[in-house]
Amino acid sequence: MTAWLDWIDLPLEVGDALAPVVGAQAGEVLVADSTTVNLYKLAHAALDVRKGAIVARAGDFPTDRYVLQGLAVARGRDLRLVDDVAAALAPPVALLCLSHVDYRTGALEDVPAMTAAAHRAGALALWDLSHSAGAVPVELTASGADLAVGCTYKYLNAGPGSPAYLWVRSELLPTLRSPIWGWFAQRDQFAMGPEYDPVDGIGRFLAGTPPVLGLAAVEEGAALIAEAGIERLRDKSVALTSLVVALHDAWLAPLGFELGTPRDPDRRGAHVSLRHPDAWRICRALIEHADVVPDFRRPDSIRYGLPPIYTRFVDAWDAVDRLRRLVEGGVHLQVEAGTARVT
Ligand SMILES: Cc1ncc(COP(=O)(O)O)c(C=O)c1O
Repeated sequence: MTAWLDWIDLPLEVGDALAPVVGAQAGEVLVADSTTVNLYKLAHAALDVRKGAIVARAGDFPTDRYVLQGLAVARGRDLRLVDDVAAALAPPVALLCLSHVDYRTGALEDVPAMTAAAHRAGALALWDLSHSAGAVPVELTASGADLAVGCTYKYLNAGPGSPAYLWVRSELLPTLRSPIWGWFAQRDQFAMGPEYDPVDGIGRFLAGTPPVLGLAAVEEGAALIAEAGIERLRDKSVALTSLVVALHDAWLAPLGFELGTPRDPDRRGAHVSLRHPDAWRICRALIEHADVVPDFRRPDSIRYGLPPIYTRFVDAWDAVDRLRRLVEGGVHLQVEAGTARVT
């Protein structure tokens, strides 16, 4: 590496590398900023071109809901945070924002169907792919979707703090404008002129200097997923989650667990949610005493993420076996109901 020219276009180049993983075309994906910031940029841009309410799921990931709450206040829009999305799409609706895979339950949304419903209400459809891309096939172009965002530190394996991505359907690009008028989107960036004049392409959603080390990790992560093949990864992922579901039924259900994830493999993503009234203490006990690292998700879920690219079947088996032994032995009952900041 020398200077500028070695990395200045990385957000676009890495976006092009990621495009096939999410079923998008080259020139439509940008890797930059965080998922939160990208969601804000795209939702704001959508509200510029569509009138009406914002619709999202009441149980969606917090940052998505907070961004939409802030935008609803700032832009004077009605925000419908609901369980029944289809019923809430009474026109006029400007924006439908949904997660492809639910962060808690692992339930998989039907992107073409929900996008079509959004379009019938006059809305643009914005998808959060954080829990799907890299483990579940995503076909953005074919689905009819308009906009998408996602992180790269889950199934794209780029590590904590790696930059997120955003996608805009190319037909929409000329009509949409980022609310952050940064110099990296400027047509003649180094002319440093007086007026903001963004480029025509996806680069118009850039803001400032990209995180180069994180981008290098995203490029590697995307290449690994492409090499493994998303269909093969999905097959393995379904087999992994099916194994955990079967072990739940055999070992955990008699101990008071309930499955929080759809049983139909076509309706779930790559994680499994195991519900138990003592989920928080069980999660702490798994981390502290069993060398298993799940996530606790309120109110009662133990979430096992099973990235198919590196999770072995024996790992999935051991993770449930250790959980069973731990609960049978009452190890979790010794964990003090504490105040761990991260769950
Ligand atoms: C569905 C979903 N959206 C957004 C985020 C937040 O992303 P970021 O911290 O990159 O803004 C997460 C983080 O886990 C997530 O799971």
